[in-house]
Amino acid sequence: MSTPDVRLVPALAEHLEAWLAIRAGPTSRRLLPLEEAPREALLRRLTEASSDVMDLRATSFRWMVECEGRIVGTVSARDLSRYHGRVEVGYMLAEDSLGRGLGTRALTLLLDKLFAIPSLYHVWLTTTEPNRASQGLARKLGFRQEGLLRGHCIVQGERMDQQVWGLLRPEWEAGRSARNLKPFGG
Ligand SMILES: CC(C)(COP(=O)(O)OP(=O)(O)OC[C@H]1O[C@@H](n2cnc3c(N)ncnc32)[C@H](O)[C@@H]1OP(=O)(O)O)[C@@H](O)C(=O)NCCC(=O)NCCS
Repeated sequence: MSTPDVRLVPALAEHLEAWLAIRAGPTSRRLLPLEEAPREALLRRLTEASSDVMDLRATSFRWMVECEGRIVGTVSARDLSRYHGRVEVGYMLAEDSLGRGLGTRALTLLLDKLFAIPSLYHVWLTTTEPNRASQGLARKLGFRQEGLLRGHCIVQGERMDQQVWGLLRPEWEAGRSARNLKPFGG
């Protein structure tokens, strides 16, 4: 079965309910160190994040993942340093959209957007130790495990280790050519 088309759309206040539903997915709740956040705080995060990587003042970005006319997830980037050329990314799909290749498409689109920033060199992310899907996705797109943060977070009351994964620009470019993927603009 082929993967349906995926688009990243700028995150807006109107996406709050969809984001809340995505965060409430049992897999995300079981595997992600999500802090309880009031609606107002999430709304602020939606409205304050940029979706324009060429905005030189922006350091935090968010898009929603749209598939077949529905919002099925979100991808984000935070703490961008244009000086050091690094940014941390995150991604989350709705429960009914897992395991269909949508994460691969969405993260590829996100990385294409971010590597359009000329100075960007290192993209990194963390996964909790039991999150095999996220580790598999990171590995599939060329990330390497760079470290382990011991006892770094709490998920549903349980303290967990977090793996650190990183991807360098030359690795991304080499992987792209190897997979013969066309650049994504939108
Ligand atoms: C992590 C996540 C974005 C991956 O997206 P996805 O659409 O489910 O993954 P894909 O179908 O694109 O699969 C990508 C790779 O991940 C791995 N993978 C996916 N689901 C997996 C699972 N349940 N168990 C083990 N590996 C899995 C595979 O290596 C797969 O590659 P392959 O199909 O070529 O073998 C998604 O599962 C998700 O949103 N999970 C809940 C939130 C979350 O964990 N976010 C990440 C926080 S660090």
